[in-house]
Amino acid sequence: MFTRRVAVVGTGYVGLTTGACLASLGHQVVCADIDTAKVERLRRGVVDIVEPGLSELVTEQVSAGRLSFVVGASSAVSAHTDGLDAEVVFLCLPTPMGVGGVADLRAVEAVIEETRELLASGTVVVNKSTVPVGTAARTAELLDRADVSVVSNPEFLREGSAVHDFLNPDRIVVGCDAAEAAERVAALYARLGAPTVLTDAASAELMKYAANCFLAMKLSYVNAMAELCERVGADIGDVTEGIGYDRRIGQAFLSPGPGWGGSCLPKDTHALLQVADAADFEFRLLRATIDTNTRQRQRVVDKVRAAVTGKRTGSLTRVRLGLLGLTFKAGTDDLRDSPALAIAALLRQAGADLVGYDPALVADPGNPDKVVRDEVEGVPLVADPLEAAQGAEAVVVLTEWPVFRTLDWTAMAGVMKQPVVVDTRNLVDPATLRRAGLTGIGIGRRDA
Ligand code: UGA
Repeated sequence: MFTRRVAVVGTGYVGLTTGACLASLGHQVVCADIDTAKVERLRRGVVDIVEPGLSELVTEQVSAGRLSFVVGASSAVSAHTDGLDAEVVFLCLPTPMGVGGVADLRAVEAVIEETRELLASGTVVVNKSTVPVGTAARTAELLDRADVSVVSNPEFLREGSAVHDFLNPDRIVVGCDAAEAAERVAALYARLGAPTVLTDAASAELMKYAANCFLAMKLSYVNAMAELCERVGADIGDVTEGIGYDRRIGQAFLSPGPGWGGSCLPKDTHALLQVADAADFEFRLLRATIDTNTRQRQRVVDKVRAAVTGKRTGSLTRVRLGLLGLTFKAGTDDLRDSPALAIAALLRQAGADLVGYDPALVADPGNPDKVVRDEVEGVPLVADPLEAAQGAEAVVVLTEWPVFRTLDWTAMAGVMKQPVVVDTRNLVDPATLRRAGLTGIGIGRRDA
């Protein structure tokens, strides 16, 4: 196997996972970030993000001498210990949603500007961030170097299982018109034995949006179907189990919830709409996917209102609610575009008094560097679920943290003002809640 000298620019969850995992595959990797304090922490093996297995992998690869950290992209492209420049440069930079839903490429552009003259002849620049179709072409234009190739190699990692997903990919996608550069990038992953799709850059870029938007559509479909279940007296769990056995549909990604969120699905659905608009194509299916998701949040608020007041139009003014889970999903501390926070904002607008608990947002004895917050977006945080339930007229489960399933629900019921649990993830066994004297209201369940 070839060992390549790799630079990874950006140490967010994609960049750090890519760097550490490529090192574990035997490559010599230098990761760069503009944040000096973060680089210092990474050198000590301190990983700020909650990502299972990542900090262990970083420590292991740093000790093995295959992974190092530097400040600034320019140091990374020419910082290899053997004095030779990077052969492959990964760009793993933030591409936030900018004006009108268009991805903001300023971080990518700034790095190109900084490094373009430093890249050795024959370097392959790889775009790993999710970027609008045409970004590889634009990157090549900005680089303006006939001797440097640009490859689109989108990642399909999920937060919370990024290391696992990187090392067990369903597929590797490499988009580039230059065959030699494409093969060099594909060869980096050869040990993983995954199917590899070699294509042009625009198709690779579109593939990433197509995958995330399909996943979002699947979830909006399930959430809409859950609403229909409630109206006709069916059960969404049984319906999705039944359809999931059809291999063309599959069991994965069929859980109803408070709506999809996170740093990717919302951004990418809006960005693909922009791509469609720019191509003069009215992508109604995608528009409906987004609208269904927005509506899902309001639906949760309506459920809480009906459960607490017994009326569809009852008032939530000064009603105390305990929120369990604020991150956008379990297994992460990421709050970006969290449906839980969107729902919290709607509940607050309706006058409710909120108290939140999230296992990712409390002190961690194993990580003294962790900054513990006492509120998030106006929701005061408490250190345990029982405190969140204290005096609450309902507890609302918003994130599927497994620990909520096994809480002492009898103790929770004992401190609540009204015995109501709105479980937006259908996480807690309804029989457990019943035994604790609580009324459990889920999404799309017969007792919803
Ligand atoms: C998503 C994709 O799953 C990854 O393949 C992709 O690489 C990544 O975006 C990205 O573009 O970087 P991620 O945002 O980490 O990954 O989160 P998911 O696990 O996909 O969950 C997205 C949202 O859907 C969450 O709010 C989650 O709670 C919700 N969800 C997921 C459900 O409501 N039900 C499900 O069955 C699954």
